[in-house]
Amino acid sequence: MFASSRTTPMQPVSLPPRADPHDFAGLRINGPRLHQRLAELATIGAIPGGGVARLALTDEDRLGRDQVVAWMRELGLAVSIDRVGNVIGTRAGREDLPPVASGSHIDTVRTGGILDGNLGVLAALEVIATLNDAGIRTRRPLAVAFFTNEEGARFAPDMMGSAVCQGSLDLESALAAVGIDGRSVGEELARIGYAGEATPGLDAYAFVELHIEQGPVLDREGITIGAVTGVQGISWTELTLRGVSNHAGTTPIALRKDAALVAAEITVALRRIAVELGPPQVATVGALTLRPNLINVVPNHALMTLDLRNTDEARLQESERRAFAAVAELAAREGVEVSQRSLARFAPVEFDERVIHRVERFAQALGHSVRRLPSGAGHDAQMFAPRCPTGMIFVPSVDGISHNVRERTDPAHIEAGADVLLQTLLSLAEE
Ligand code: GLV
Ligand code: MN
Ligand code: MN
Repeated sequence: MFASSRTTPMQPVSLPPRADPHDFAGLRINGPRLHQRLAELATIGAIPGGGVARLALTDEDRLGRDQVVAWMRELGLAVSIDRVGNVIGTRAGREDLPPVASGSHIDTVRTGGILDGNLGVLAALEVIATLNDAGIRTRRPLAVAFFTNEEGARFAPDMMGSAVCQGSLDLESALAAVGIDGRSVGEELARIGYAGEATPGLDAYAFVELHIEQGPVLDREGITIGAVTGVQGISWTELTLRGVSNHAGTTPIALRKDAALVAAEITVALRRIAVELGPPQVATVGALTLRPNLINVVPNHALMTLDLRNTDEARLQESERRAFAAVAELAAREGVEVSQRSLARFAPVEFDERVIHRVERFAQALGHSVRRLPSGAGHDAQMFAPRCPTGMIFVPSVDGISHNVRERTDPAHIEAGADVLLQTLLSLAEE
């Protein structure tokens, strides 16, 4: 575990001389080294089936953080940890300019794969290692970050650390957020030793994140690189339904106030709304708990979540309007009380055309197939998009599976994505 001092002085890496200082085009990341780090990080919080459970700010997250911070220091990065636990490792440039930043998250859902988030962080570290090996000092500094609680699976909202870092969520609200187990972000940061001293912030010249697609498009079309155009809007709501518990054998159907029935009807209504609105609208009830959760008792309490997403803000609002109307109507019909709380709300984000174009160009130059596509999942990059030129690189997810221990990406695609990241970061850092 780390002591609470959160900044180490910049350690200059001694750079071997390079034959041609402008020959970046031939530069490639070291695939085996990247795969080795991914496999090593995957041992922390490993779960059956080949996945990982490192919910934000748990002991497993702390161990993962310790490992990545150790790698950052080995690579000569100056490590800074801020008050919401974001970790930023900086490599000095030839000039003292705003850095080109990359990174992602290392927290996972409870049934996570080994690549979601982790690939973006470790590929960015692999870029640093590659530049160290090649003796390249970029004009601008490079910053590699991992952000606290991107997943939002334990604490809402998701993208919490990057939102605080880029000023769209205030620090105090983030620290006060209470998780599914009743503990707050502030308490848990202190407990695991990651309540840093730095004021959150990263004024980047540009931000580029490599991530697995987590959807089926690239895999189905046999395309290696996705040049991500933006991230769809996300609306998360928690519903509490309060009915009346009673005997399952003696209570006539007409007299019931059954919270489970309403939860089920809301789940069905959400699917209907998504189908009516058509793609790319999606709607999910991902969490549902009943009380008292016994075979012979009519449930008096249901706690459930709604996750609505669309690339178009007006249509996302339409899905919210329809969903909330259905909730009110279905609850009233059963005589169940309902209260709702917004957990997260992010408008759709568009990435910077110059970054998207550069990703396409480098993918093509490296001989990889590439297409543009929007992201269905939320990402830390979306928090940077309003503040600096931002983009993302996707690599295919086998069968489009993610948030699942079976999440996989072909190792060659991982290397291709990391090479495109290397070239994109280098070109931005030389500007
Ligand atoms: C984050 O992984 C999300 O999109 O829910
Ligand atoms: Mn992710
Ligand atoms: Mn995820």
